[in-house]
Parts: sequence; structure tokens; C-alpha cells
Amino acid sequence: MAEYNLAVIAGDGIGPEVIAQGRKVLEAVAAQSEGLFFRTTEFPWGSDYYRETGRMMPEDGLGQLSACDAVLFGAVGDPDIPDHITLQGILLPMRRAFDQAICIRPAVLYPGVASPVAGKAAGDVDLVIFRENTEGEYAPVGGRLYPGTPHETVIQSGVFTRRGTERIIRAAFEHCVRRGGKNKVTSVTKSNAQAFSMVFWDEVFAEVAADYPQVQTESLLVDRAAMDLVRWPEDFDVIVASNLFADILSDIAAVVTGSMGLAPSANINPEGRFPSMFEPVHGAAFDIAGRNQANPLATIFAVAMLLEHLGETEAAQRVNAAVLRVLNERITLTADLGGTASTQQVGDEVVRLLGG
Ligand code: NAI
Ligand code: MG
Repeated sequence: MAEYNLAVIAGDGIGPEVIAQGRKVLEAVAAQSEGLFFRTTEFPWGSDYYRETGRMMPEDGLGQLSACDAVLFGAVGDPDIPDHITLQGILLPMRRAFDQAICIRPAVLYPGVASPVAGKAAGDVDLVIFRENTEGEYAPVGGRLYPGTPHETVIQSGVFTRRGTERIIRAAFEHCVRRGGKNKVTSVTKSNAQAFSMVFWDEVFAEVAADYPQVQTESLLVDRAAMDLVRWPEDFDVIVASNLFADILSDIAAVVTGSMGLAPSANINPEGRFPSMFEPVHGAAFDIAGRNQANPLATIFAVAMLLEHLGETEAAQRVNAAVLRVLNERITLTADLGGTASTQQVGDEVVRLLGG
């Protein structure tokens, strides 16, 4: 028997809408699996909490989460609160404090889904992005000097450690070997312009690659990689990149494979000392929030990644299979995939298909 403590932070915008469907699917799959139980605690943190308290989460928020087995996260962001406050108030501190260094973001063009790129058929695109998740360009290192004067000076530093760089690159190679895809790891940098951090990254990439002689390797500059992801997405297998570059490439990979509403993300603590976190790649999506029209499938795919991470492989496979059927049947889809179904109807359909 396995019983897991799950922390859920639905957050803002479409976060609560898609998380409600993710929870529903998780509860349904647990109910169908003998001996699988989730004890779920929902934390009402995010922008409303900020308006009430001046903080995105309580001071001991991370302490409250630290004992759980995994975190399911929706999104944060609010039209009236600056984005650096919302993201730096909860999401980025969690990734750092729980050392969720390995961010895994698959992007697959599934049967039933149309790519906006002409001529790409289901199965053509099947890639996964490994994003360094705890340092790089998102390290809160810098400062602002003489604000509001003609001498105003702003410094934002990138932080690249050997530990951080090596472990994301090694994780990408390990995953490449395990997944048995096109057997290629593509490293994405900008070492022609960022001659310290990215040159260092390239060196570490070459060192780690030497341990995997059977894996094909490639290094691309980020601007070229962005272009290739659009014109030749089928050429990629595993992509490894820094926090910022992989963030940007994830949105490109998501739309090329159909929608932001299909892209999940796992934020893994490699040593398992802290909880790992699972979320959709997308944000709060103000333009569609509150309309029951957000696609919940990214979150439901993230639930499958959560189950896989906990070792509940069979339950994970059932969730993935149900989502693939929803996509392939093309009857119950949200507007982003050309359908007219609501967020809730898509969640209900996944639950209905879980059984068979
Ligand atoms: P976004 O990902 O929220 O939206 C981008 C576009 O994709 C929008 O047109 C949106 O309607 C569409 N989209 C996103 N999710 C969808 C879904 N499930 N179904 C259908 N369409 C979907 O990115 P944006 O607009 O840059 O950011 C909005 C807010 O979210 C900002 O405050 C930003 O800081 C925050 N954000 C938060 C993230 C997080 O909490 N992990 C990640 C990205 C952004
Ligand atoms: Mg992003």
C-alpha cells in the first residue's frame, strides 16, 4: 500500500481551473488503483494571498511544504502585481530551496493534434527539454544603484556553477540513453556573445559528453536553435540549456507541438531530499482566465509525471493513455486545439476514459 502526501498550490489565473481537473484525474486514478492513496493539502497562496498579507506565501511556507512527497503547482501571475514579485515570491524560491535542479519538459506532437508548422505529422516531433532550474540567469544576484538618477546602474548577474551545470547536462545524457529515442543531446548556448558563462557550459558539455560516446551530440547557438525548433522540430531528441534559454525554448516547443495547454513540466530534486514539483509549463493566462476554456491537459500530463516520479508507473500510464485517447478522438477538446469543450468537460472526459 502506498499513501502519499501531496501539496497543491493552484495559484492564480487559470491555475485553479486546470488544477481542479488535475486533482480530479489524480483522485480518479487513485480510486481505481488498489492500495494507492493521496492525502492532499491545498495551500491558498498566490496573488490574492499577497493582496491580503503582502507576501505570496507565508514566511514558513516552504517549511510547510517540505514534508510532502510532491507538489502540484498551477501558475502565478496577476495583471495588477509585477511579475517579478509573483514569480520571485513563491515559484523560484521553491525551485531553489528544494533544489529542484532538473526541469524536464517533454514536447510531443500527438495523434489528433495539428502543429501550426505545415507538413508536420503526429509522431514527427518527440523531444524533451532539460532546463537548469536553480541558477543561471534566474539567480537573484544583482542590484540597483542610484535609482531615479541619470547615473542609475543596474546589474543582473548570471550564476553558473560546475555542480549545477554538470548535473543538468549529465541528467540530459542519462535520460537520452534511457529513453531510446533519436539518441542525440543538443546543448544550447550563446557562447559567441556570453564568453564566460556559456563558454564554461560548452566545456562542461564536452567533458560530460565524453562519458557517453554512444550518444550523438550537437551544440547550437540559442537564436539558431529557436529557428530550428520551428523549421525542423523533428531533428531534436534531448535539448539541454540554461534556465532562461530553456524557458524560452519550452514555449516554442509547446506551440510547435500544438498548444501551451499540452506542455507539462517536472521540477526534480535529484537527491530526493526535498519534494519535487509538477506543473504545466504555461502561466496564469489572463487572456482566458475565468472562462472555463483553458486546456487542462498540460496539468493532467504533469499529474502523470508526478505519478511516474513516485514510482506509480502503471497509474501514470493509465493517465497518459486516457489523455492520448481524448486527443486522438478529437471530440472533447478546448478552443486552443480547435474544439468547443470547457476545461471541466475535458477533465471529465479524461476521467471517463481512465477506466478503459
Ligand atoms: P501564459 O503561459 O500564461 O500564456 C501564453 C499564451 O498561451 C496565452 O495566449 C494563453 O492564453 C495561452 N495558454 C496558456 N495556457 C493555456 C492553456 N492551458 N490552455 C489554452 N491556452 C493557454 O504566458 P504569459 O501570458 O506570458 O504570462 C501570463 C502570466 O503568467 C504572467 O504574469 C507571467 O509572469 C505568469 N507566468 C507564470 C508561470 C508560472 O507560474 N509557472 C509561467 C509563465 C508565466
Ligand atoms: Mg516559461
